[in-house]
Amino acid sequence: MKKIRILGTGSYVPPKVLTNEDLKNMGLDTSDEWIVQRTGIKERRLAGQHEATSDLALEASKKALDMAGLSPDDIDLIIVGTITPDTHCPAAANWLQAKLNAKRAVNFDITAACSGFIYAMHTASQFIHAGSVKKALVIGAEVMSRVVNWKDRTTCILWGDGAGAAILTADNKGHQLLSTHVHTDGENGKDLLVPGGGSTVTPITKESVERGDHYLNMIGANASFRVAVRHFLDSIMESVEHNKVTIEDINWFIPHQANFRMFTSIAKSIEVPIERFYITLDRYGNSSSASCAIALDEAVRDGSIKEKNHVCMPVFGGGLTWGSALIKW
Ligand code: COA
Repeated sequence: MKKIRILGTGSYVPPKVLTNEDLKNMGLDTSDEWIVQRTGIKERRLAGQHEATSDLALEASKKALDMAGLSPDDIDLIIVGTITPDTHCPAAANWLQAKLNAKRAVNFDITAACSGFIYAMHTASQFIHAGSVKKALVIGAEVMSRVVNWKDRTTCILWGDGAGAAILTADNKGHQLLSTHVHTDGENGKDLLVPGGGSTVTPITKESVERGDHYLNMIGANASFRVAVRHFLDSIMESVEHNKVTIEDINWFIPHQANFRMFTSIAKSIEVPIERFYITLDRYGNSSSASCAIALDEAVRDGSIKEKNHVCMPVFGGGLTWGSALIKW
């Protein structure tokens, strides 16, 4: 079996910062102290009024291509993991292809919520293994601020916007993507739901907008907290056991950035100091599929990840979806 390699990474967050204090000043019944204590989030980034998911993805992609020393023409496949595509049709990946001028690429989106980047890596790896794709651009990109109900203090404090990208290939050079694993539990998919705008309810109507059907609903946030921790742990163990390495061999854990208390709970369970978790949550909040992709790129660029380091990326998200990637840098 061909080895999958990572040739480059890139990320982008929009410049507009929304602090916890800003949320309070917007009239939300909350405080910086509550949000930091319960989530670890201090601030998040917001896309501009005219910035769509493909615009954030474009900036992240350009940086990944630059690091890889490639041009858009080298790309055979673009997969965007997103639950906030520019439009329902066409896919965000298609808008991105046009903006990037990656004429040769075949493109599609993957809807796997916060696990979208790992699902995209997993799917692209299968194309590369099959031989039909030589170089793939995989992205996690979200403009969550468009589907957040800014009046719901339990959910709106969590989310942020951003994009992260990686270039995958089967060449001999590059960093090894040792494995990816993905899992789905459709039965509990309703736990994280945007009920309106699809074919289930009705087309978007005045009434559905008034009900807030177009917003992200998080049913049973406490339950999803516990389920998330369990799946994070299972995903870590699956990737470690599959690659016959130990927890001690992992230099960096770069999980989906959902909640700092989740990180401490996972770290305690696997008996690893929290310092081995790379964290961007405090600055960017939970940017769904983009979050671990952004964190990976930042850890690469600031020199935290060194040559031959093992990096484990466990993820969990709506769907329900979960999984992992294990990288040897
Ligand atoms: N500011 C102040 N108070 C808030 C608040 C906010 N932003 N949001 C909720 N509260 C209140 C609640 O109304 C509740 O008040 P009450 O006791 O008077 O009823 C109290 O705080 C406790 O609420 P609870 O929901 O039990 O808080 P929590 O400690 O569980 O934290 C979350 C809530 C959403 C932060 C937490 O459950 C969480 O992060 N869940 C996981 C969500 C997630 O990331 N899932 C995975 C997605 S990929």
